[in-house]
Amino acid sequence: MKLRFLLLIAFFSSSVALGQGNNYVQNYSKFDGLALTPPMGWNSWNKFACNVDEKLIKETADAMISSGMKQAGYTYINIDDCWHGDRDSLGFIHPDAKRFPSGMKALADYIHSKGLKLGLYSDAGSQTCGGRPGSRGYEFQDALTYASWGIDYLKYDWCNTDGLKAEGAYKTITAALRKAGRPMVLSICEWGTDKPWVWGPAVGHLWRTSGDIFNCFDCVEDHGTWKSWGVMQILDKQDGLRQYAGPGHWNDPDMLEVGNGKLTPGEDRAHFAMWAMLAAPLIAGNDLRNMNQETIEVLTNKNIIAINQDVLGIQGFKYSKLNGFEIWFKPLNNGNWAVSFLNRSAETKKIDFNWKAEKVKDEVFQKELNADAILYKIKNAWTGKSVGTTKSSLKTEVPSHDVLTLILEK
Ligand code: GLA
Repeated sequence: MKLRFLLLIAFFSSSVALGQGNNYVQNYSKFDGLALTPPMGWNSWNKFACNVDEKLIKETADAMISSGMKQAGYTYINIDDCWHGDRDSLGFIHPDAKRFPSGMKALADYIHSKGLKLGLYSDAGSQTCGGRPGSRGYEFQDALTYASWGIDYLKYDWCNTDGLKAEGAYKTITAALRKAGRPMVLSICEWGTDKPWVWGPAVGHLWRTSGDIFNCFDCVEDHGTWKSWGVMQILDKQDGLRQYAGPGHWNDPDMLEVGNGKLTPGEDRAHFAMWAMLAAPLIAGNDLRNMNQETIEVLTNKNIIAINQDVLGIQGFKYSKLNGFEIWFKPLNNGNWAVSFLNRSAETKKIDFNWKAEKVKDEVFQKELNADAILYKIKNAWTGKSVGTTKSSLKTEVPSHDVLTLILEK
């Protein structure tokens, strides 16, 4: 009797220890640490929409290397909507055979052979936003399929999800990915509707905070039933969210429009610098095979990327705002700071910034820039050139729709 009782106890405690059951926290540790700094890569949607095929993806991987982007830290090649073919009679999803004749496994092998990683897109609903098969009801099967192909990153969208609750639906795909066992970054694309910043950190690695970006600096595009947002509109939607972001879990203000032909060089710089200040994922959305020098210089600027990839992972904040001129600060490791002077207005703005007189305090993360007690060296992040110290006021100008980004070092 006693022995039976002991055996029973031993059985129950071992099942608890092994974490049996369909618990979505299973194998959690494998998925930790996949995005300790904001993910960097490329995604097909902004430039190519549904026009994706294996030739484009391979050429993009090659261009990521030859352009210096891989060297600068970009890793993920993400195929967005419309790679899908049909499900077979057993429910397994297959890529569109015309667009991906070699299959996804072969494509992943190619991407991996280049030292890069491959991402895919699916949707929590019955169909993707582009009308392709969604993962609803097939979550565990799809996760196994992606794992067998060697996928490293999943963007999971929110179209056609009638009757679903976001947190639960995303927990289901998380459970499925963890059960499948291959570490994958999970990008929650729920557009910020159900406050993913609150539940997202325990479920995925990044979450969209807004609707889609539109390729303009300062405009709103009305599609009737939905709107998409210019770079400045998306920036404004990040207010109040910084306390939710940190290593392993990021606010995602959507993919970049840098180099997509609608922004001026100054606007491209402002867009890229502000995404760096926000500790946002840096997912390029342009044609990497045909970039001009200006675009390459923006996307690979090592100081701006260092601001974005800083190990503290603190999202920057708006310090002041006056007549279309904003000053943003971001605390960096070792007591350093990044600062961006963003000119959203139509005129050139003059700066006369007295470092010692300003009280720059990050109340959320308890950091203080004290130029009265500490002398910081100042570097222009764009040029890498030293521009003096915080001993004297900064006196300069910022052209309309442009940014000046500096790094203050102790
Ligand atoms: C939604 C997403 C976009 C893109 C498209 C694809 O609109 O928010 O980022 O993935 O779907 O159809």
